[in-house]
Parts: sequence; C-alpha cells; structure tokens
Amino acid sequence: TQKRAPQSEMAPASVSLRATILCLLAWAGLAAGDRVYIHPFHLVIHNESTCEQLAKANAGKPKDPTFTPVPIQAKTSPVDEKASQDQLVLVAAKLDTEDKLRAAMVGILANFLGFRIYGMHSELWGVVHGATILSPVAVFGTLASLYLGALDHTADRLQAILGVPWKDENCTSRLDAHKVLSALQAVQGLLVAQGRADGQGQLLLSTVVGLFTAPDLHLKQPFVQGLALYAPVVLPRSLDFTDLEVAAEKIDRFMQAVTGWKISSPLMGASADSTLVFNTYVHFQGKMKDFSLLAEPQEFWVDNSTSVSVPMLSGVGTFQHWSDAQDNFSVTQVPFTESACLLLIQPHYASDLDKVEGLTFQQNSLNWIKKLSPRAIHLTMPQLVLRGSYDLQDLLAQAELPAILGTELNLQKLSTDNLRVGKVLNSIFFELEADEREPTESTRQLNRPEVLEVTLDRPFLFVVYDQSATALHFLGRVANPLSPA
Ligand SMILES: *[C@@H]1O[C@H](CO)[C@@H](O)[C@H](O)[C@H]1NC(C)=O
Ligand SMILES: *[C@@H]1O[C@H](CO)[C@@H](O)[C@H](O)[C@H]1NC(C)=O
Ligand SMILES: *[C@@H]1O[C@H](CO)[C@@H](O)[C@H](O)[C@H]1NC(C)=O
Ligand SMILES: *[C@@H]1O[C@H](CO)[C@@H](O)[C@H](O)[C@H]1NC(C)=O
Repeated sequence: TQKRAPQSEMAPASVSLRATILCLLAWAGLAAGDRVYIHPFHLVIHNESTCEQLAKANAGKPKDPTFTPVPIQAKTSPVDEKASQDQLVLVAAKLDTEDKLRAAMVGILANFLGFRIYGMHSELWGVVHGATILSPVAVFGTLASLYLGALDHTADRLQAILGVPWKDENCTSRLDAHKVLSALQAVQGLLVAQGRADGQGQLLLSTVVGLFTAPDLHLKQPFVQGLALYAPVVLPRSLDFTDLEVAAEKIDRFMQAVTGWKISSPLMGASADSTLVFNTYVHFQGKMKDFSLLAEPQEFWVDNSTSVSVPMLSGVGTFQHWSDAQDNFSVTQVPFTESACLLLIQPHYASDLDKVEGLTFQQNSLNWIKKLSPRAIHLTMPQLVLRGSYDLQDLLAQAELPAILGTELNLQKLSTDNLRVGKVLNSIFFELEADEREPTESTRQLNRPEVLEVTLDRPFLFVVYDQSATALHFLGRVANPLSPA
C-alpha cells in the first residue's frame, strides 16, 4: 500500500485554502457580491454585537440553565424522517443570497477537512477490503458542534482544524458557531430541496445527533439548543458506561428503535469512566432516475481471482464522462437532480485503486470535475447499501493533533461537570437504489452502437456532490460491496 505524505501543517494549508475558496466560489457562480473578495471568512466569524453576547455567555452571567438527559430506556417517539426532510426544504426556501454564499463557503471548508480526514482514515485502516464511507459534512458538523461547547485552547484548536485559524486574539476573528451550524443545515436543505416538484424527493438526508451521557451529567441548555441549528433531531440520553459493551448495545438498540436504522456505534477503546459519547448519525438515500435493478445478481471482481455475486443497477443515459488516459482512470457523473450528482471513479487497473484515490481525493482535485463531457452511456453498478462508523478522535490523533479531543479538553460550554469524552463518532447509513419509472424517450433512443458500456464490476470510488453548496456530501471506496463498511 502506498502511504500519503502527512498533511499536518495547518498554516500553509489555510493560506491556499483562502485562495481556493475564492476560486471555487467564483467557479460555482456564487461570488457575485464584491464583499466576498474582501474577506471570505467574514461570513462565518463573529461581529461586534455577537462578540458582546459571547463575552457575556463566557462570563457565565446569567448562569446557563442545565439539565440531565432522560434515561435511554425512557419511551421515545420514533424520528419522523419525512418531517425532518420537510423542515430542511423550508430552511432551503428561506435562504437569501448571503446565506447561500455562507453555505457554499462552509461546504468548501468541509470538503477540505473531509479530504484531510479521509486521508487519515485510509492510513489508519490500511487496505480496505470491504467498503468505506465518510461524510465531510458530518465531520465538519461534529467538530463545529464541539466548538460550540468549547473554550480557550480547545476552541482555538478546533477553530484551526475547521480551517479558519484564530490569529489576532480579537473576538471579531473568532468563528461564530451559530453561523457555521446554520450554514450546515442550509447545506443539507439545499441538497434535499431539489427535484421535489413531483412531491417526492430524489434524495433523502437525515442527520440525528445522539448525545449519550453518564446518568448524573448536566448538559447546558444553550449548547443543546445550538445543536438543533444543525441537526433536525438531537437526542440527549443518559446511560451507565461502566460496561462499555452493554452501553454500546443499549445505544444501538435505542437508535434502531427510534430511527429504524441498523447502524452500530462501536465504543471499543473508550475508557470505562467516560461520561460523554457524541455520535452524529447520517442516513442518505439516493434514487437513481431511470435505473433498474437487474433481475440476476452480477459478478463483482474483488481482485483478479476472486468474485462475489451482488445485486446491480443498470441504466442508459447521456452522462458526463471523462477517461484519463495518462493516469488510467475514468469518471462518470450520474445526475440525481439539477445540481446534485453521483461521481463514480473507476481505475482502469484494479491494482491502481490507492493511486487513483490519492489523485482524486485531495484538496485541489476537484479539477477533474471540470474535464467531464457528455456521452451516451450504458452504466451498470452495484446497488449500494453501506454502513460505517468512524471515530474522529482516532482520526484527529492520526492527523498529529492528539490533544484536541483527549483528556485536557475544555468543553465548559457543553457541561461544567467532570466531563470525560469517550467517543466522538460519525455513523453513516448510505443507500443507493433504482428509481424505476417509465423509460423516457431519450432512454429508448440510446440503443445505438456508439453507446459506451461502463460497468463497475471492480473496486471503485464514489462521491456525492452538490454544486449548489459546493459540498461533497460523501466520499466512498468500494472494494467489496458485500462486506460491512
Ligand atoms: C451581527 O451578526 C448577527 C448574527 O448574524 C446579526 O443578527 C447582526 O445584525 C450583526 N450585526 C452587525 C452590526 O452586523
Ligand atoms: C477587534 O477588531 C475590531 C475590528 O476589526 C476593532 O474595531 C477592535 O478595536 C478590535 N479589538 C481589539 C481589542 O483589538
Ligand atoms: C493478480 O494480482 C496480484 C496482486 O494484486 C498480482 O501479483 C498478480 O500478478 C495478478 N495476477 C494476474 C494474472 O494478473
Ligand atoms: C497507464 O497505463 C499505461 C499502460 O496502459 C502505462 O504505460 C502508464 O505508465 C500508466 N500510467 C500511470 C500514471 O501509471
């Protein structure tokens, strides 16, 4: 396996980050206002008046009200995913120009962080034999949520990791957590609001934050209320962490009961005296227009001598495509909606997967999106159902930032009790399925010899991208579609 050079220098990265943000905003046609050329970060930092409020809040006067979460076994009504989608659609409908610009800016910051963390992910896990999936938006949202609860050095470091280093010790260059979290909700809203004309969305995206605490831990109300800016559903619940295996089981059972999602949140490696587990759960469901599920499972080659039999989707259409003859990979873009798409990246030689991942999943790599051009294509690919969890503490430690979520962290705006963070997790449940409708005219006309056959029957990479917020919602790698992620 090839190791990537560590990207631990924050400062140089942030300089190029600012230039790239301007570039990308311009490319996305969003940098219409001149203001963004003056300072793109003004969209997400505090102003004089919010600084005053912040100073008051930090001084703890009046004292923030607190509460202890209800026990995890208490009766809870199920999460209504439809209602949270409707709420996101409403959020998207109310966005003004500046809100959209802010969403795009936060989207770009999340992409940068997402690529860095993805790099750590693949280094930490080595060669992935199954599938792996990461949500840059959830990574950014989770760290921005902790930033909301952080003070002092913890806040400084989190702000730097989020890509907007705090330089002049002046509150007016502090990241405004509320602005960032609302922008993240806008990013989600922009994705699900598209293509809803027929009343049924092409895309579903649900974010639920689970805040699991030891029984006597007090959480600050303003913190939990702030999280609701980002996640439509926040579930604070208390349970006993002394037996971590039992605790993990209880959490998984609870989440399955309220959401219906079968995702696990592993607590292995956490300390038994932990008092907080923070997990951002994300469910994505994408319907591929005019694709159908093939009657028989098809062979997928895990390597050059092993195949597995997997359900596959197939569809014909005019898709954006590009084949890089020099670096030996192809990209096919399948639209979900006007601005959101699935990008499928296939190495020409299966053994090049790591190399191609290194070329495409990196900070300045969105360049390849610009090289795509339309082609008539018959595409066949696995029907994906992926589940994956990753621990941001592990990943940040790998990024040589061990102290940030370690023991000495200051989360006094989350709780002033003796807080010990056990795990900071993202758990992803990702589904791609066929949206079978009557074949359209264009589909039928495409039965011509010049139709290019693209078959993803070997390891590939994928991205869910939304241009309206310049956001990469998911980065994934499928070495074997049947293995648990
Ligand atoms: C400061 O930001 C807040 C929150 O975004 C906004 O409501 C307020 O109008 C801003 N104040 C100034 C002086 O720009
Ligand atoms: C912080 O920055 C603002 C505007 O950039 C300025 O007006 C203010 O005087 C600065 N405050 C301090 C303490 O430096
Ligand atoms: C199969 O793959 C392995 C390692 O990826 C390689 O060493 C071997 O030469 C390949 N065999 C063939 C027939 O291509
Ligand atoms: C791409 O494949 C060709 C052979 O088909 C090879 O000569 C070339 O070196 C490959 N390029 C890279 C960057 O590996």
